[in-house]
Amino acid sequence: MLNLWFLLTILAAAPTAPSAPTPAPVAQTVADPGARAFQRCAACHSVRANAHDDIGPNLRDVFGRRVGAVSGYPYSDSLRAAGRRGMVWNATTLDRFLADPEAAIPGTAMPYQGGSAAERAALIAWLRRTG
Ligand code: HEC
Repeated sequence: MLNLWFLLTILAAAPTAPSAPTPAPVAQTVADPGARAFQRCAACHSVRANAHDDIGPNLRDVFGRRVGAVSGYPYSDSLRAAGRRGMVWNATTLDRFLADPEAAIPGTAMPYQGGSAAERAALIAWLRRTG
């Protein structure tokens, strides 16, 4: 009996374990799945207005834009030609290009980026809202 009281006293007096740091709100860490998917693109592309061209052309306002239309960007001949033929970026053309750039526009300098159909859909929706 004495041992039990002793144990209870110790437990009651024990400092509570330091609480784990509060995790940041989900919106900040996980973000939009499209924004998360864009992290793979951000190594080469920007969506900021007036950003200098990175390795890839600026993707701001890419929706409804003619292919290969960022002035001053050194596009491949095949992207320029696709633009001259009147190809425009929309949900369908973007999805095809991202699923398989070389099949969509043979000779493009954009490497395949991977990603599931669901990721592409989220990314394209995000680009439409953001870009
Ligand atoms: C390793 C660098 C790299 C990464 C990563 C990359 N791209 Fe690209 N992207 C390029 C290059 C280079 C071009 C220009 C291709 C050409 O001229 O043929 C391009 C072109 C494009 C274009 C055509 C733009 C226009 O003005 O016609 C789109 C759209 C595009 N990329 C979307 C994406 C998206 C979305 C992602 C992420 C899933 C991505 N890219 C990831 C390098 C990259």
